[in-house]
Amino acid sequence: MASARSTTAAVEETAAKTAQSVSNASSTFIDRASRWYADNKVLAWTVAGVTVVAVGGSIYYLSKPPRVSDLDKKSKKERRKGKKDNVKAAEEARQADTPAPAPAPGVNAPKASAEPEAVVEEELPQVTEETVAHLSEQEKKDYSAKLKAAGNKAYGSKDYNKAIDLYGQAILCKADPVYYSNRAACWNAMSNWDKVIEDTTAAINLDPEYVKALNRRANAYEQQDRYSEALLDYTASCILDQFRSDSSAQAVERLLKKVAESKAKSIMEGKEKKLPSPTFVSNYLQSFRARPLPEGLEESADLSEDSGKWFLRKGLLAIQQRTAEGYAEAAQCFDSAVEKNELESHEAYAYNMRGTFRYLKGENDAALEDLNKSIELDPALVQSYVKRASMHLEQSKRDEAANDFEQAMTHNASDPDIFYHRAQLHFILSEFSAAASDYQKSIDLDSKFIFSHIQLGVTQYKMGSIASSMATFRRCIKNFGDKSDVYNYYGELLLDQQKYQEAVEKFETAVEMERKSVGEKGGMNVLPLINKALALFQWKQDYSAAEELCQKALIIDPECDIAVATMAQLLLQQGKVTEALKYFERAAELSRTEGEVVNALSYAEATRTQLEVQEKYPQLASKLQGMGAPAMPGAVR
Ligand SMILES: *[C@@H]1O[C@H](CO)[C@@H](O)[C@H](O)[C@H]1NC(C)=O
Ligand SMILES: *[C@@H]1O[C@H](CO)[C@@H](O)[C@H](O)[C@H]1NC(C)=O
Repeated sequence: MASARSTTAAVEETAAKTAQSVSNASSTFIDRASRWYADNKVLAWTVAGVTVVAVGGSIYYLSKPPRVSDLDKKSKKERRKGKKDNVKAAEEARQADTPAPAPAPGVNAPKASAEPEAVVEEELPQVTEETVAHLSEQEKKDYSAKLKAAGNKAYGSKDYNKAIDLYGQAILCKADPVYYSNRAACWNAMSNWDKVIEDTTAAINLDPEYVKALNRRANAYEQQDRYSEALLDYTASCILDQFRSDSSAQAVERLLKKVAESKAKSIMEGKEKKLPSPTFVSNYLQSFRARPLPEGLEESADLSEDSGKWFLRKGLLAIQQRTAEGYAEAAQCFDSAVEKNELESHEAYAYNMRGTFRYLKGENDAALEDLNKSIELDPALVQSYVKRASMHLEQSKRDEAANDFEQAMTHNASDPDIFYHRAQLHFILSEFSAAASDYQKSIDLDSKFIFSHIQLGVTQYKMGSIASSMATFRRCIKNFGDKSDVYNYYGELLLDQQKYQEAVEKFETAVEMERKSVGEKGGMNVLPLINKALALFQWKQDYSAAEELCQKALIIDPECDIAVATMAQLLLQQGKVTEALKYFERAAELSRTEGEVVNALSYAEATRTQLEVQEKYPQLASKLQGMGAPAMPGAVR
C-alpha cells in the first residue's frame, strides 16, 4: 500500500502526524496547565480590570473554558483526514460496523482478502472443553484460526450469538487476545457491558498494550457510568497510541469533564461558602471607583452602636484594610446591617454591599436577590446595575448584562463606572473598538480612575496598535506613577512581546511599590510577584527562582488561586507530576464557583490519571517522555 503512494506524500503525512501527535500530547497534559491558569486568572481579572494574560508567549483572554469546542472542531477535520489517509482503518471500520460510539473501529479481523474466503460451515470443527484436551498443538492452531474466521463472518452478518459461540471455541483452542477482543465486540453490539469488560480485561491481561481492547473496555465503563475507570483506559490508550487517535483524545476530554463535574458537585455541596483570597476581592472591588463614605456615615457621624448604619460604616471601613480579616469582618458587618435595618436612606446601599460580598463568596442566587432588592429600593444607585451585570457576565448571561447596562444608563448617563464595565463586556466579546470607545468615555467622565487607562492600553494592544498602547502606558506612568498596577500590567504587555528584561523590571517596581504601600504585614497584591515568576520561567527557564516567587506570594496570600495554579504549572513542566497534582487539587479547593471547581478538577484529574497510567504501565514512562519523538508505526496494533 505504501509503495502506491509517492514518497513525498508519505513523508509529508508522517511529518503531519508527528506534529499532530506532539501537539496533541502537549495540549493534553502540558498546555492544559497554562490554559487552566489563563482561564482562572481571567475569571479573576474579568471583573477586576485587565484581562490580558501572558502565558507561554500568547495572550489568552477568555471568559469560559474553550477547550471542548476547540477540540471538537479540530478533531472532526482530523478524523476526516485520518479516514482518507488510512485505508486500512476505514476498511476495518466498515467491516466491523460496531454500532457503539466507541472509537474502536471494531473487530480486529484480518481483511477478508487475506483469509481464504472458503471457510465452509460444515468443515468447521466443534470444540468443547472436553474435546480440546485431545487435540494436538497443530490442530489447535488450525482450528482456532478457522473458528475465528467463521466468527468474524458471523459478526459481519450481525449474528452475534453465533459469533460469540465461535470465538468461544477459538479461545478454547488458543487464548489469543484478539479472540477475546472480538468476542467483546459482539457483547458490545448487544450492549452487554459486563461481558465486554470481562472479555476486554482478558485480552488486556494477555496484551497490556492492546489499544483497541482498551478503547472497547473504556466505552463499556463509560456506558456503566464508571467514569474514572473509563478515563484511565482512554488515557492509557492515548499514550500507547501516542495521541494519534482523535476519538480517544476526545473521549479523554469528555470523561475528564464528567469526572470533574461529578466530583465538583459533591465538593460544592460540602463546601463552606467563604470569601476568596484578598487578592481576588481587592481586584473585584477596585474595578469600581473608590468613593468617600456616604453622607451620614462619615467617621465623624454619631451613630448608635449596633445599629444598621453603624454596621454599614464599620463594614466599609473594614474593606479599606485590604486584608483577609478585613474582608471577612466587612462581610459580617453587611449581614448585620441588613438584619438590623434602621438604615433609612442607606438601605439600598446596604443590600448592594451584602450582595457584593455574597457574590464574592460564590452565593450567586442570594447575591442577585440582594442586588435586585437594592435596585428596587433605589433605582438611581446605578452601581447596583453594574454589579448585577458583572454577575450576569460571570454566568455567561450576556444579554442580561447588556440589559443591566442599558437600564443603568437611563438613570445616569454620566456615570463612568457604567462605561468602564460595559467596555469590559465588549472586551470579553473581542469587540475591541467598541471597548476602546467605552473606556475612552469613562476616562472623559473621570480621568482619575486608573483602570480605564490601563485597560484602554491593553485594548489598543489587542487591536494591534502596539505603539498607541505603549504610549498609553507611558502616559499612565506619568499620571499614576505611584500605582503599582500600571507597572504590573505594562510589564505583562512587555512580557507578551518577549521583552523580558524590561518586563521583569516593571514587575519588580510593582512589587516594591506594593510592599511600601502596605508594609510587610499583608494586604499586598501578589500578582506582580507571580508575573515576575512567569517572566523568569519564560525567559531563563529558571524554575527555582519562579517557584520561590510563587511561594513568597503564597506566604502573603495563602489562598491566592493564581499563585497555586502557577505552582502547579511550574511543577508539571518539570515533570513533578505528584507535586503538581497537590497544587491542582488545592486550586480546586480555592475555587469560588462550580464552574471554576470543574475547571480546576479536570486538570487535577488529567494529572492524576497520567500518574496512574504511568504506575500501571511502567513501560510507558519512556513513551511519555519521548512523546516529541516521531511516531513509531507498528509499535501498537
Ligand atoms: C432579579 O431581577 C431580574 C429582572 O428584574 C429577574 O429576571 C431575576 O429573576 C431576579 N433574580 C433574582 C434572584 O431574584
Ligand atoms: C451621575 O453619576 C455621576 C458620577 O458618579 C454623579 O456625579 C452624578 O451626581 C450622578 N447623577 C445623578 C443624577 O445621580
